[in-house]
Amino acid sequence: MKFFIDTANLNHIKEANDLGILDGVTTNPSLMAKEGITGQQNILDHYVAICNIVDGPVSAEVISTDFEGMVREGEHLASLHKNIVVKIPMILEGIKAIKYFSAKGIKTNCTLIFSSGQALLAAKAGATYISPFLGRLDDVSTNGLDLIAQIRLIYDNYAFNTQILAASVRHPMHIINCAELGSDVMTGPLSAIRALANHPLTDLGLQQFLADHAKGNG
Ligand code: G3P
Repeated sequence: MKFFIDTANLNHIKEANDLGILDGVTTNPSLMAKEGITGQQNILDHYVAICNIVDGPVSAEVISTDFEGMVREGEHLASLHKNIVVKIPMILEGIKAIKYFSAKGIKTNCTLIFSSGQALLAAKAGATYISPFLGRLDDVSTNGLDLIAQIRLIYDNYAFNTQILAASVRHPMHIINCAELGSDVMTGPLSAIRALANHPLTDLGLQQFLADHAKGNG
């Protein structure tokens, strides 16, 4: 399973990248605003800064909600760097835009997926990735992981090439469960990625090894 980090924070991106396990980055307008990145040029420059840190796909989201606007914005975003993936919302105009970009060989990430029907439609249009939002489904008492399993089944039935990019991942169990279900990619915050390394028995064991070594070696 590929690991993407879901943030626009350059320090978090650098830290995850330095671990050597980072495959890509996803962003969205809320994450950009959270980092105080505002204004068209600053936002575009920030995407390039991210691309200069991570050698992998970087999702950059369009703001337009009509086909022509998405095409205009998406083409500009894709021209910024070879690793940019145009992130498009799951609306009917977005499906048309995904089909357009797919025919041109421009990679897309269809975002705000909350049902398997939406995932099927996006795959039919040729989306490179689809982003089902696990955490936000959990937030409304619906099991987000069930959606990943349904989409996996549908995509495997027809050998769709569209990759499942589990998003709105909040904690390490989401990551582990996504891996069990065969999600192609997960995108989560640095905290969830870091937490995968934690185990109290590892800490205790290491403490013991170092203490025993010190006893024998002064
Ligand atoms: O990738 C989508 C993600 O950013 C949404 O996460 O935690 O805002 O639901 P969250």
